[in-house]
Formats: sequence, C-alpha cells, structure tokens
Amino acid sequence: MKRHSLVIGGTGGIGSAFARSVARAGHVVSVIGRRLPSEAEPIPHVRYYAADLSCAQRLGAVLTEILRRSGKLSSLIFFQRFRGEEDPWVGEMEISLTATKNTIERLTDDFSRTDERSIVVVSSIASRFIVEEQPVGYHVAKAGLNQMVRYYAVALGPKGIRVNSVSPGTVLKEGSSPLSKRIIPLGRMGRSEDVVRAVEFLCSPQASFITGQEIIVDGGLSLRSQESVARELALQAVAR
Ligand SMILES: NC(=O)c1ccc[n+]([C@@H]2O[C@H](COP(=O)([O-])OP(=O)(O)OC[C@H]3O[C@@H](n4cnc5c(N)ncnc54)[C@H](OP(=O)(O)O)[C@@H]3O)[C@@H](O)[C@H]2O)c1
Repeated sequence: MKRHSLVIGGTGGIGSAFARSVARAGHVVSVIGRRLPSEAEPIPHVRYYAADLSCAQRLGAVLTEILRRSGKLSSLIFFQRFRGEEDPWVGEMEISLTATKNTIERLTDDFSRTDERSIVVVSSIASRFIVEEQPVGYHVAKAGLNQMVRYYAVALGPKGIRVNSVSPGTVLKEGSSPLSKRIIPLGRMGRSEDVVRAVEFLCSPQASFITGQEIIVDGGLSLRSQESVARELALQAVAR
C-alpha cells in the first residue's frame, strides 16, 4: 500500500514543491488549492482538487471525495496562505486557523493504521518575531497555529498521530527580493527545498517520537541579535 499525503495549499509555492517531491518518492498525493494548476504535464501520482478553504461545505465534500478515491492518509500537511481580497484579519483567521482546525478534526479518524501518521503545519518565524511587511492577522494566525499544533499533539497522540510545525524565514522564490546573505549564518537564502526537507523529515519514521515541536528553517538568522545584524549592515553600507 502506497503512502497517501494530502497537501493543503499544494497548487503553488512551497506546497507544490513538496507535492512534487513526495510524488517522486512514490507517495499517492492529493492536493487542494483554489484553482487547479494550469501545467500541461500532470505529475504522476498527484490528484488536484479545487476548493476554497473558506467554504466549509465544499471543503468537506472534497475531503470525502479524496478519501474515497485515494484511501486513508499517512500525512496531512498545511501549506496554505491567505491570498484573498477580503479583509486580511478575517481572511487569515478563516484560511489559516479555522480551515486547519476543521480539516484536522474532520480527518482524525481517516489516518491509515499501518503507516507513520503525521500532521505538519507550515507556520512562520512571524509567529514569534514581527515581520513588518506582513499584517497583524498573519502574525496572530501563525502564533495560533503553533499553539494549535501543541494542542493536537496531545489530543491526537493516543491515536498515534504526530503533529508538528515548520517555521520558515524568508524563502527565496520567483519574485521575492534577496536579503543580504551575509546576515544569515549559513550564508545563503532559504529555498523551497529546505522547507520541503524539514516537512518530509517530520512526516517520516525518522521522526517517530517527535510531536508538538516546531522546527525553524531560517539558516540561523533569528538567532542573531538585531544589534549585530544592524551593525553588519551599517559596515557593509560604509564599505560600498
Ligand atoms: N514564502 C515565504 O517566504 C514564507 C516564509 C515563511 C512562511 N511561509 C509559509 O509557508 C507556506 C507556503 O507559503 P508560499 O509562499 O509557498 O505560499 P503561496 O505561494 O501563496 O501558496 C499558497 C497556497 O495556498 C493555496 N491557497 C491560498 N488561499 C487558499 C484558499 N482560500 N483555499 C484553498 N487554497 C488556498 C494556494 O493555491 P491557490 O492560489 O490555487 O488557491 C497555494 O497553493 C505558508 O503557510 C506561508 O505562510 C512562507
């Protein structure tokens, strides 16, 4: 029996990189996004489903359809990010928090008995630091997700379901502007695959006794004091 991964928000960005990676590893992959991807080449083993997470009824119907077609889950991963036009506070609460809670609660009895069972929520360093280009709702939703992870780690532990989070710093994707690499201890920007690998680890048997934890994937940037970073940037500016 193949492992079945359900990727919420896997039609674009880091979630789509994850879906490709686990499909290459031989998982059956179900992906939910608002829109079906327009790629000409379908990825083998990946099935896409269109549902707006703000519509509980549509989401429920799609989850039922996914279980019917592809069977019980091994992993459930949340990569979605509110990108709607509505009020950002309401949108962040609905798409990040409420949709994650409702999906987890709908699916707790639909995990495979034989596989490693895992839920991973992609959060952000904005759960603990202030990222000024993001709205207040993003910060509050991400902080709430981290506590939700701890809650469900305890609640779902007896069912053998592990629940963890991954918190990336800025990930260099097409269109995003690079930071000074010198301020990052590992000397480069984060990439989608760095986040993908951390999520894959948490879904794997290598993480079999890890639950309720957060892995920060930022190359060590958040360990540095703001003063050190400011000093380094000032010195760089003088040297130019
Ligand atoms: N990129 C970064 O630098 C960064 C840094 C820290 C944390 N993160 C976190 O990493 C995760 C992925 O980020 P990303 O930058 O890859 O995001 P992204 O490119 O905006 O992709 C978000 C995904 O969510 C789906 N989505 C958005 N609204 C939806 C809705 N209402 N219903 C259903 N699906 C919806 C999108 O698909 P559709 O457009 O088809 O709906 C897409 O598949 C997010 O949780 C983000 O907060 C990212």
